Amino acid sequence: MAYLLALDQGTSSSRTIVFRDSGEIIASAQQEFTQHFPQPGWVEHDANELWSSQLATARAALAKAGINAADIAALGITNQRETTIVWERATGRPIFNAIVWQDRRTEALCDRLRADGLAAAIRRKTGLILDPYFSATKLNWILNQVDGARARAARGELAFGTVDSWLAWNLTGGRLHVTDVSNAARTMLWNIHEGCWDQDLLAWLDIPPEVLPEVHPSSHQYGATDAQWLGAAVPIAGIAGDQQSALFGQACFEPGMAKNTYGTGCFMLLNTGTQCADSQHGLISTAACQSDATRQYALEGSVFVGGAVVQWLRDGLKAINSTAEVEALAGSVPDSGGVVFVPAFTGLGAPYWVPSAKGAILGLSRGTTQAHIARAALEGIAFQSAALLQAMMRDAATPITELRVDGGACANSLLLQFQADLLGIPVLRPQVTETTALGAAYLAGLAAGVYRDRQQLAAQWRVERVFEPSMDRAQAQERMHSWERAISQVHPV
Ligand code: G3P
Repeated sequence: MAYLLALDQGTSSSRTIVFRDSGEIIASAQQEFTQHFPQPGWVEHDANELWSSQLATARAALAKAGINAADIAALGITNQRETTIVWERATGRPIFNAIVWQDRRTEALCDRLRADGLAAAIRRKTGLILDPYFSATKLNWILNQVDGARARAARGELAFGTVDSWLAWNLTGGRLHVTDVSNAARTMLWNIHEGCWDQDLLAWLDIPPEVLPEVHPSSHQYGATDAQWLGAAVPIAGIAGDQQSALFGQACFEPGMAKNTYGTGCFMLLNTGTQCADSQHGLISTAACQSDATRQYALEGSVFVGGAVVQWLRDGLKAINSTAEVEALAGSVPDSGGVVFVPAFTGLGAPYWVPSAKGAILGLSRGTTQAHIARAALEGIAFQSAALLQAMMRDAATPITELRVDGGACANSLLLQFQADLLGIPVLRPQVTETTALGAAYLAGLAAGVYRDRQQLAAQWRVERVFEPSMDRAQAQERMHSWERAISQVHPV
């Protein structure tokens, strides 16, 4: 029997989970950290707080599990993707706050690149839609805005990384400046077909190559942590962006298998195997986790606000005291009473891609209560995910027959039933819904020799509950139409 440690640095919290090699959770720890909103549309994290909260949860999880770091076979890192950090190589000090994936400050630069006719070439090389979401324009912004940064970067004094790189750097006292293909693919600087940092992209985005990390497969012996952090050196043997990690943790290893994660946002990924699919319906192509020398791809639909709408009900609207209360409140009414909630708080992602869209609550009447709004908020999560699956089904070579789900909000059965109703296919909730962390543990376990191969991991996947569609298809279609009508109203004129 072996233990694996998964560090899951997400948008809303840092978490660490200790797994047995069977995939069973032994202990976990979680810590929220400060969200900074310096201006409308801007979202930042303090990079030092990301590191300190992550370290604190790793220590707490080990203590709860009652095991020593020396008992851990390997450690995997998984992370909120695209979030951009630049730090000094000499001191490890960040030169600016982490600019979070949700941040829209680089819209003007994206418009300029589009006006220069570069969107199609960027898409061809990266699989991505030109949008402030990805790291490259955020990195460009930091290099331009922080005094002297551009010159220092060119002299090799600064390092850029997504959160995985930042954690690996800190865990190893600056010995490692690395990332994996699934994170590199989210920077908009990585050529997903050739598997390299792309010279054209670096030139268009004005990024000196000196700042870039080394890139490896997701399952790889990266190096060991410094013993001072956890009490013993632990091999870092897995790194993956959280959504690709969840696809791996859900054992979606075959082309045609899909998962949806209900986290801060919602992220639906479809395994397309060794084929990089070219979406005609607003999805992006991305590198999936790579556990050997073969490149793997996925189609992805990214929704920027998913579970975060429930946080807004709690913190913004103050309709609930804790996020767990939302299911009871939404379930206290039979339907949303005609209310449609479009949670486009940070623009609209896939499949619409309208960075400047704003959220809206439509269809209010004198009879509308908080319960209707809560229900409409949950439905809004499912509508957005259904729009992704519809786009995916149009793009996919083979029909998608079921959807595996995970993430915090998938504890909400009302949401999952409505999801199955809208989609018209079964929605499968696994026994372990911490699949993001599990994926990182599996990747680390594979590289460390704890597991033989992916088949062994696929055999460990177990379903907890299947949500069968029960809504009449005509009614489901009518509900989707009401959603699309609402979407057309939040597009800017
Ligand atoms: O692309 C952003 C995504 O990786 C964030 O995931 O789980 O922190 O909302 P999450």
